Amino acid sequence: MTNTSIHLAFRPVGLPDGTMWNLQQTPVPPCEDGQFCVRVHYVSIDPAMRGWINEGTTYIKGVEIGAVMRAFAAGEVIESRNAAFPVGRLVTGMFGVQQFAISDGNGVETAPAAHIEELPRAIAALGMPGMTAYWGLLDKGKPKEDETVLVSGAAGAVGSLVGQIAKLQGCRVIGIAGGKAKCAYLLHELGFDAAIDYKASDIAASLKELAPNGVDVYFDNVGGDTLDAALVNLARGARVVICGAISQYNNTLENGAPAPPQGPKNYMKIVTARGSLSGIIVFDYFDRATEFRAQMQEWIQAGKLHPKEHVVEGIEHFSEALLMLFRGENFGKLVLKV
Ligand SMILES: NC(=O)c1ccc[n+]([C@@H]2O[C@H](COP(=O)([O-])OP(=O)(O)OC[C@H]3O[C@@H](n4cnc5c(N)ncnc54)[C@H](OP(=O)(O)O)[C@@H]3O)[C@@H](O)[C@H]2O)c1
Repeated sequence: MTNTSIHLAFRPVGLPDGTMWNLQQTPVPPCEDGQFCVRVHYVSIDPAMRGWINEGTTYIKGVEIGAVMRAFAAGEVIESRNAAFPVGRLVTGMFGVQQFAISDGNGVETAPAAHIEELPRAIAALGMPGMTAYWGLLDKGKPKEDETVLVSGAAGAVGSLVGQIAKLQGCRVIGIAGGKAKCAYLLHELGFDAAIDYKASDIAASLKELAPNGVDVYFDNVGGDTLDAALVNLARGARVVICGAISQYNNTLENGAPAPPQGPKNYMKIVTARGSLSGIIVFDYFDRATEFRAQMQEWIQAGKLHPKEHVVEGIEHFSEALLMLFRGENFGKLVLKV
């Protein structure tokens, strides 16, 4: 069998155009004792990938030049010398952007899926992005009934779930997203109470109208000016959850090195509001996966939560798929079908 895989050729400057990826075709090696081979069917396309291809280490080590691009993925065990992962088992893990992955089981989980067609959701609402939304909102944001929750990147993988979970807590939910179609999706398909199109309106002014008493929980996926606008409109005791800052990931210094994110000008509003600002890294919650997944599955089966996966086909389209995140071209969780 031949494996098709995507490798990092060099580190990009700014927005990652397609030139830094190498597509390689190599024979799939045989499994050794304790190993199994996964036929990867779906790869999760994540904003974090941009950080992973920078030099150095943040919460996780950067991808080495020449290595297979790191990615959460889902697939089926097709050959096994590991009794815990028999042939036919559907699994999720960090298999990378490739068709076949040899694994020793480290970090691999049985997928919450009965069929291959259900694997996209296993790496979406029932996987890493779902866990980020669930624990980021409930454990860090601590929303209470009747409070106002604001979320940016609201039509994306994490944001769309944050808003829906907040509604299930009895909160009033405002989403920030780019464009009319995304705002209509939030209002009419996901049941948000209000939506702000940041490409067409002033976020701070809109918030003044939509949340005259301020925002109790702000879940930030975007950073930069959006974070600043949200900080101006906090209610007393507000909790700001920093999940990501996609507007800042391609910032570049004049010498081509990655530039730090734009800091919040309005951080003193946290003081005025007697508020708090905290960060979340989803990896810290992996040991609470069972609890999270049981609740999400219950909500989905009861028709109370509507996850959406946006599937792009073909491993050769990985580079374009990654760019879709920065162009705002995805609705819900972006997944590549391999
Ligand atoms: N801390 C953690 O453990 C953790 C885990 C997972 C994800 N995250 C973070 O959570 C955030 C959302 O991730 P996701 O997977 O759910 O991605 P996503 O929201 O599905 O996709 C990214 C979205 O970001 C928006 N965007 C892109 N550039 C923007 C800009 N310059 N200004 C404003 N919005 C912009 C686009 O939507 P529009 O069309 O609305 O612009 C795009 O669709 C990211 O910051 C990611 O790094 C953090």
